[in-house]
Formats: sequence, structure tokens, C-alpha cells
Amino acid sequence: MALNLCVLVSGRGSNLKALLKASASGRIKSQVVLVITNKLTSGAFEICKKRKINCIYLSEESFSHGLDYIKSFLTLLKNYKIDLILLAGYLKKLPAEIVRKYRNRILNIHPSLLPCFGGQGMYGLNVHKKVIDSGAKISGVTVHIVTEDYDSGPIVLQKTVNVKDDDTPESLSLRARKAEHILYPKAISLFETKKIKIKNQRVIFN
Ligand code: GRF
Repeated sequence: MALNLCVLVSGRGSNLKALLKASASGRIKSQVVLVITNKLTSGAFEICKKRKINCIYLSEESFSHGLDYIKSFLTLLKNYKIDLILLAGYLKKLPAEIVRKYRNRILNIHPSLLPCFGGQGMYGLNVHKKVIDSGAKISGVTVHIVTEDYDSGPIVLQKTVNVKDDDTPESLSLRARKAEHILYPKAISLFETKKIKIKNQRVIFN
């Protein structure tokens, strides 16, 4: 089934680009119908402009009451008939109300093999630096379901990435990003074609 996707981005947006490419090429049936960013500097604006996709700036800072922010967020998701929300480098915790309302329909991509190297403050090059400092030979990327806690929801898919002896956080991040661009569309096609069940912490697709 083709799903209406909403992608949340704070930064560069290379995962957003990869998702759009996967959709345009037919690798996934779903369409990105809405992009939300909490940063005016996000690359998402440019990416969306080229492809005529609605990119909306939504930041809690623009609202005097948190409840109005949440209401606006939920209204957007409803108006665009969003089936699946994808966090793609979104550096803001989603309000619990949204997580509850879209339970098991919000995914995040993280640049490590969770549950290792995740949690608050673990994003971007920080993650890859910690991986290199740990001496790990293998790292990877994880797509997981978003819950109320950082990086700890049930794992949907993972892909390993080798750590080379001469890797820097930058070189490892490039290799990991390539893996992310393959893995995120794969996770979406699972949601398109399978029924999901969560048993304890394990995601099972039937
Ligand atoms: C990715 O590495 C992703 O794992 C993390 O944030 C980064 C976003 O990169 N959550 P981009 O903006 O998609 O290029």
C-alpha cells in the first residue's frame, strides 16, 4: 500500500533526498507529501522547492503556548493524511502527544547499531567519534520506531558498516550515510507491504 509520508528534518536533508529518489524511481510506492523542519537553515527548503513539495517551518519557539504548537503539528499531520512520520536528522524531541497519537507509525534513523551509541546528545559526528574511540570494528545504522525515549524504540532494520583503522568521524559518517540512504527506503517498503507486530521489544513483520 502506498503511504503518505511526512519527513521531519533539522539539517542537511540527505536522507530526505534519498527518500524522494526512492519514491521517484518506484523503489517505494509511498510519497513524501509533507516535510516539516524546525530550522530555518535546513537544507530541506531547497530540496523541496526543486521538487514542489510542501516544506513547512514549525518550531515550538514561534508559539507562546506549547499546546498550540502541538495542536498545529497534529492539524498538519491530519490535513495531509499522514500515515508514516519519518525523522531524518530531526534534532528535537517529538511531543509525547504526537508519539502517542502515531504510535508505531513514527520512525527514526540513527547512525549506529542501537542500542549502542544512542541516547541524548548522541547525534552526528559525536556518535562516530565515540564508535572510533571504543575500538569497535563494526558500526552501522538503525531504523527504529520512535517512543517517548531517545533512540530506544523497537528496531525495524539495521545495516552494518565497517570501521577502518584510519577512519575519522568524518570518513565513517560518509560510509554510514550511504548505508542510511539504502536502509530507510527498505524500512518503508516493509511498512507498505507487511503487517507489523511488536512482541516485547522485537518488531515482527508478517
Ligand atoms: C543522519 O546521520 C541520521 O542518522 C541522523 O541525522 C543525520 C541526518 O543527516 N539521525 P541528513 O540531514 O539526512 O543528511
